[in-house]
Amino acid sequence: MIPEDLDPALVRACLRTARFGRSLDVRAETGSTNDDARAAAEAGAPDGHVVVADAQRRGRGAHGRPWSSPPGRDLYVSIVVRPPSFALPALAPLTLAVGLGLARAVAIFVSKERVRVKWPNDVLIDERKCAGILVETSSLGERAGPVVIGIGVDVGREQFDEDLAPLATSLRLAAGHALDRASVLAAVLSMVEAEVDRFFAGGLPEIVREIESILAMRGERVECGSARGELVGLAPSGALRLRVDGSEREIVSGSPKRLGPR
Ligand code: BTN
Repeated sequence: MIPEDLDPALVRACLRTARFGRSLDVRAETGSTNDDARAAAEAGAPDGHVVVADAQRRGRGAHGRPWSSPPGRDLYVSIVVRPPSFALPALAPLTLAVGLGLARAVAIFVSKERVRVKWPNDVLIDERKCAGILVETSSLGERAGPVVIGIGVDVGREQFDEDLAPLATSLRLAAGHALDRASVLAAVLSMVEAEVDRFFAGGLPEIVREIESILAMRGERVECGSARGELVGLAPSGALRLRVDGSEREIVSGSPKRLGPR
């Protein structure tokens, strides 16, 4: 059964978007909402079609990791986006646009000074992860086909497994009170829609500048893949800039980890 706080009529009543969520599929439980959204896209679902589930059996995170998806508390959301004519490689920084929108949505519920984007796909509150993004693309020849934007937000979780506890938080823990999932979902969809539209309208340079101002670990020593150095910021392309042995390197994949002082 779909829980009351994710009732489709309630979610629709909260929506303030033009397209995202106007076509909506809410499920009590599923394998992965990204798979459902991909299947819906292949069956002709419109741009902005959204799949939401109360629980996932096989939630996927970045780098092939599982995404813990128990029922009753958090948000598991996937959005179908049909890009305008776009070369597939040019889609790589779309994750940053989604991250900026997601950070703006989180900042509605806790003060914005506490919110950061950890390149390339995490949103943090007080340095702890509260949300993650998994963008899955498809190709039509050399052009981009429908994209699935997967978003997981820890909304109501009050406890994390021992290994995650020092690194993770939820909106509830950070805000100090309960939040309803329909309102959080509506905020996420409207802020992410705005940034995705800006991205496809050529707004990547502004998106990158705005993310830089809330970029986690800026100025700190980090390790990303085999590179170790100071996290300087972002390149206009959205790549991560590291200062390694006095010269700058642009990193296009991986996930930076904080290193102690040298
Ligand atoms: C990450 O930070 O590792 C990305 C997490 C993405 C999780 C979401 S939950 C909704 C959608 N369905 C999935 O299987 N994964 C994404």
